[in-house]
Amino acid sequence: MKLWKGRFAKEVDPKTNDFNSSISVDSRMFAEDIKGSIAHATMLAASGIIEKSEGDKICAELEKISEEIESGKLIIDPNAEDIHTFVEGELTERIGDAGKRLHTARSRNDQVALDVRMTLKKECQVMKGQLKDLIQVLCNKAEAYSNAVMPGYTHMQRAQPITFGHHLLAYCEMLLRDFERFEDAEKRMDVMPLGSGALAGTTYPLNREMTAELLGFAAVSQNSLDGVSDRDFCVEIAFAVSMTMVHLSRFCEELILWCSWEFKFIELDDAFSTGSSIMPQKKNPDIAELIRGKSGRVFGDLTALLTMMKGLPLAYNKDMQEDKEAVFDAVDTLKLCVTPLIPMIETMTVLTENMRNAAAKGFINATDCADYLVAEKGLPFRDAYKITGELVALCIAENLTLETLPLASYQAVCSAFDEGIYHAISLDTCVNERKVLGGPAPENVKNQVKRVMTIIEELK
Ligand code: ARG
Repeated sequence: MKLWKGRFAKEVDPKTNDFNSSISVDSRMFAEDIKGSIAHATMLAASGIIEKSEGDKICAELEKISEEIESGKLIIDPNAEDIHTFVEGELTERIGDAGKRLHTARSRNDQVALDVRMTLKKECQVMKGQLKDLIQVLCNKAEAYSNAVMPGYTHMQRAQPITFGHHLLAYCEMLLRDFERFEDAEKRMDVMPLGSGALAGTTYPLNREMTAELLGFAAVSQNSLDGVSDRDFCVEIAFAVSMTMVHLSRFCEELILWCSWEFKFIELDDAFSTGSSIMPQKKNPDIAELIRGKSGRVFGDLTALLTMMKGLPLAYNKDMQEDKEAVFDAVDTLKLCVTPLIPMIETMTVLTENMRNAAAKGFINATDCADYLVAEKGLPFRDAYKITGELVALCIAENLTLETLPLASYQAVCSAFDEGIYHAISLDTCVNERKVLGGPAPENVKNQVKRVMTIIEELK
């Protein structure tokens, strides 16, 4: 059934009908479409635009249709043009004339804008819930490994010692920002567009605030052209998802490195690893790799949305039908990725010995050696830096570490050194003393875990 049949002498060519249809993508919005229609009909009746009895009839039947789709009793027609057409057609078939009044003072242009907003509002709640769970599991691990010393890297070279808990908390910070980005995008999504009509509003005396209130929107759109043409909220959600995927892909990349034989800082549980069809010894971090890989498709969705909207004249253009596939794919991909990531982190084994051994190599305490000369012996940092560089070169030449270099060799380079240097450069000192706000010291990690947990408990 076509809503716009009247003007046409012919049916749409069947293959073209498939091309034009969005039902495969927008049928997931059936519940929102129906809720929107119920609110619209309720408002129309309350405003005296349709009879109260007709409004009641429409709402009762729409409820039934929603339940029947939900339970699988009513199958959405895959040949329908879109979900709006299907629901209205079904309603009219069931209740006749009253059904035909539902679309008074409404266009599919403002209807689809409403449905997408409602669907994404719901999805934001789900994604935010997942982010909270992910932050929680990272906090639990950070707490458990607050004093596990590991090398921190710059340029993928061992740089300075940190703690594993501190490293995990870095991801908590990123995910907290992601959470905020979703919250921020939600604010601009929380605007109700019904009443914009096709593009120019309507002559009917609508109570738009009432519709907004019935649907739980904070505001109504203020310009009918913008009301039907705005897809900023789709782009913003796709960006919030993309940024989150950047963070997940960075974390997954580290998990992949850490479980390689070259690092062996962690071991993933068998339930979250896969084997090779030819190499019997292999245990591969496929899940982490897939998450890293899927970030690419999400950035594709964001690019698709931006490119689709770029240069579009006002108001509605059919190009915009492409919004849903892209933004829903971004949302679904994020949800899909977080689902196995949480238990994968929960069940991984952390090989603290290996981390510590790695931290004991690579002159990771060289900065602390220079800091010792500054703090204990009053040397300017640049001089201390140069002396330490010479000591490192000496160690490399003699196959020693700063820990095993004899005091006499230290003193040969700079007479100010005494026994205290060994304490100053011990890994534990290096880590425990980094207790500046934001630093990796175990006591900081414990405090930061508390801070993050308090924040997420308050998040909605
Ligand atoms: N399926 C359409 C979409 O997703 C709904 C709006 C159609 N409006 C129109 N005038 N053709 O954008």
